[in-house]
Amino acid sequence: MEHLAIIMDGNGRWAKARGLPRTEGHRAGGETVRRVLQYCRDANIRYLTLYAFSVENWKRPREEVDALMKLLVAYLAGEESMLHQNQVRLRVMGRREDLPPEARAALQHVEEATAGYERQLILCLSYGGRAEIVDAAKGLAKRIASGELQPEAIDEQTFAGHLYLPDVPDPDLIVRTSGELRLSNFLLWQASYAELYVTPVLWPDFGEADFKAALAAFEQRNRRYGGV
Ligand code: IPE
Ligand code: IPE
Ligand code: MG
Repeated sequence: MEHLAIIMDGNGRWAKARGLPRTEGHRAGGETVRRVLQYCRDANIRYLTLYAFSVENWKRPREEVDALMKLLVAYLAGEESMLHQNQVRLRVMGRREDLPPEARAALQHVEEATAGYERQLILCLSYGGRAEIVDAAKGLAKRIASGELQPEAIDEQTFAGHLYLPDVPDPDLIVRTSGELRLSNFLLWQASYAELYVTPVLWPDFGEADFKAALAAFEQRNRRYGGV
């Protein structure tokens, strides 16, 4: 498998079950991110995409959003050396202009510092699949308006070339934790032929056995891409 994408869900329920504030669930979820990076390295997975914050998540209470942004900055400061050790390049996917200045600065710093590495950790932040498609359409419209592109020349490849990270291959497997059977606006374009795997395990509890179970399920799938 080249590209694994994960909808990291269930932090709030994990905290609630322990009588803790939701932000404690997000903190514990950050620990899971650390572990999963190691599993991906061991499994030789080149791209790991993590859905960390959606465009819809801005609707959450101010305190929770603030806590998530603080955790992001702390995570980046704490993990930069680990990214170097494992030779992992950090990339951001989403409307980064929506993020607070401290988060943008921390992301940019780590992105630049790790830009030379082959393996990639892609963080989806203020990300929405529809927003990405709309942004791609805007990019195409600008090129048409300037006379650079003919509308008839648009095909799937041209369109995909205007998505946020056009050089990244589509995900092979999308994992969602905490049991919800939906995409919640994740990678709508890129997910067209991804295999889906949902586990009831909450993200803070997601461990190596769960990771291995997801990969084993993927290995059993027969990907036909519409063929026979
Ligand atoms: C996922 O956990 C993390 C984010 C969406 C930021 P949730 O916060 O959605 O946890 P639940 O779904 O409420 O349990
Ligand atoms: C999806 O989880 C977004 C992320 C994991 C960042 P949500 O908890 O926001 O999704 P819904 O509300 O259950 O669809
Ligand atoms: Mg959720």
